[in-house]
Amino acid sequence: MLILAPMQGLTEVLFRKTYETCYPGAFDYAVSPFVSLTHGNLHDAEKKIHDVLPEVNQDSMVVVPQILGHEKEEFVDLANRFYELGYSEVNWNMGCPMRRVAHKHRGSGILPYPEEVRDILTHVMTRIRPKLSVKVRLGYYSPDEIDHIIPVLNDFPLKDITIHPRIGKQQYSGRPDLEKLAQIVPEIRHRIIYNGDICTTYDYKKIMQLFPSIKDVMIGRGVLYNPTLPLQIRNQFSADFGGEGTPDPSSHCTSAAEFVIQLMNNILQMNVSDQAKGRKMKEYWCLASRSLPGTEERKRRVLHASALDEIFNRILEIAK
Ligand SMILES: Cc1cc2nc3c(=O)[nH]c(=O)nc-3n(C[C@H](O)[C@H](O)[C@H](O)COP(=O)(O)O)c2cc1C
Repeated sequence: MLILAPMQGLTEVLFRKTYETCYPGAFDYAVSPFVSLTHGNLHDAEKKIHDVLPEVNQDSMVVVPQILGHEKEEFVDLANRFYELGYSEVNWNMGCPMRRVAHKHRGSGILPYPEEVRDILTHVMTRIRPKLSVKVRLGYYSPDEIDHIIPVLNDFPLKDITIHPRIGKQQYSGRPDLEKLAQIVPEIRHRIIYNGDICTTYDYKKIMQLFPSIKDVMIGRGVLYNPTLPLQIRNQFSADFGGEGTPDPSSHCTSAAEFVIQLMNNILQMNVSDQAKGRKMKEYWCLASRSLPGTEERKRRVLHASALDEIFNRILEIAK
């Protein structure tokens, strides 16, 4: 399976919908950017979970809501709220590396504390109605922290474990630690989803060859750099996908540029200020322009524009 990674500020429903319209079926499903148990508008719960409301996600890809935090009662309430909305699975974020999050034992910051993980899972697993999957790093301070987390995770009936083989302290620097991953894979009783630095079909092939027991990968930045990557993977390695290759190729965008234009058009329709639309366009442009032809200098001109129509037109000049 190919799964779209959660990326706060990037893979919200606007992106997921645009992507599914342009490349239907390229991803099997997405995990949503995290919903924090403590932050956001606690008094307006609907606003907090807006990104995964079923009515907002019509015509989008299948999504699994993600929860960030360690507050047990709130966890149970939110997971069961998602279940009421029709979600049969929720994902627990044990990977977020942001210092202000991790220092409160949230995200990857809980990985040095296996007994806290056990306590939370013991509480929530008997009380939540959806299945639970988790997304982890190897640790926060050290990759050896995972050695103490695995026996805990093995004791619970989790749906699957997504592993991003870096530690929290690294943020996104360095390379995924594939040696450590190779050590721990045989110890894990659950289905494993690999995540990290899959940006080309070669990266995908390398992971599949190194870890024959892993069948599923989650892709984040790679699809923003190159929106056609999941289709390239499906076509080149169609045997990994039941020999099916690209689902319904006739309905796909034929180029990355077409997707980028569609995304920018959908940003134009957003119900936010022009300034916010311009910022959003630039955020995506920084990542997605890599897949388009043209010099770096010309691409940078988009970032130097300030008025919304100027930003949009400069993008069109390159993408068309
Ligand atoms: C801007 C940004 C936001 C992210 N937000 C989340 C998030 O909300 N939840 C989560 O589990 N991971 C989050 N991640 C981590 C990604 O899901 C993924 O694990 C990471 O980018 C490595 O995968 P990749 O190399 O395929 O991008 C985020 C990463 C980035 C760069």
